[in-house]
Amino acid sequence: MGTKENLEAAFSGESQANRKYLAFADRAESEGFEQIAYLFRGIAEAETIHAHNHLRAMGKVGDTEENLKSAIAGEDYEYKDMYPEFLVESEAEGETQASTGFRFALEAEQVHSTLYSEALRMAEAGEDMPVQDLYLCEVCGHTVLGSIPERCPICGSKQEKYFKVER
Ligand SMILES: [Fe+2]
Ligand SMILES: [Fe+2]
Repeated sequence: MGTKENLEAAFSGESQANRKYLAFADRAESEGFEQIAYLFRGIAEAETIHAHNHLRAMGKVGDTEENLKSAIAGEDYEYKDMYPEFLVESEAEGETQASTGFRFALEAEQVHSTLYSEALRMAEAGEDMPVQDLYLCEVCGHTVLGSIPERCPICGSKQEKYFKVER
C-alpha cells in the first residue's frame, strides 16, 4: 500500500467513526448521559476534520460542477448496482432489518441523484438553485425540496416524520 491507498483507508475509517459516534451520542443522550453524548458529538466533529483533510489530500474536492458529477456517480452506483445486489442477498438470507434499510437507501439515493442532476443543470448555467427548504423523512431518509408529501413515498410514514434541514 502507498499513500494513495492509505488516504482512502483513512478517509473511510474517519468517515465511519464520525457516523458511529453520532449514533453513540444519540444513545448516550437517551440513557441520560448528557456530557458523554456531548463528548461523542465533539469527537465526531474532529473525525470529520480528519476525513476532510484526507479527502482534500487525495484531490477529490473539486469545483461545484465537478463535485456534483462525483456525487451523481456515487448515488447512481449505489441505487443501480450496489443496493440491488445487497437487497437480493439480504432477502435470500432472511435478513429483514438489513433488507428494509437497503430498500430505503436504494430509493432515497435515486432521489438524491435526481436532485443533484437538477443542481448540476443549474450550476452549468452558472446559476444557484432557487431557494427552497429541504425536508428529510427521519425513518428512511427520503429527501424533498419545497413541501412535504402527505405520506413518505418510500416508507409510508406520515408527514410528521419529516424534519426541515437547517441552513
Ligand atoms: Fe444519497
Ligand atoms: Fe420515509
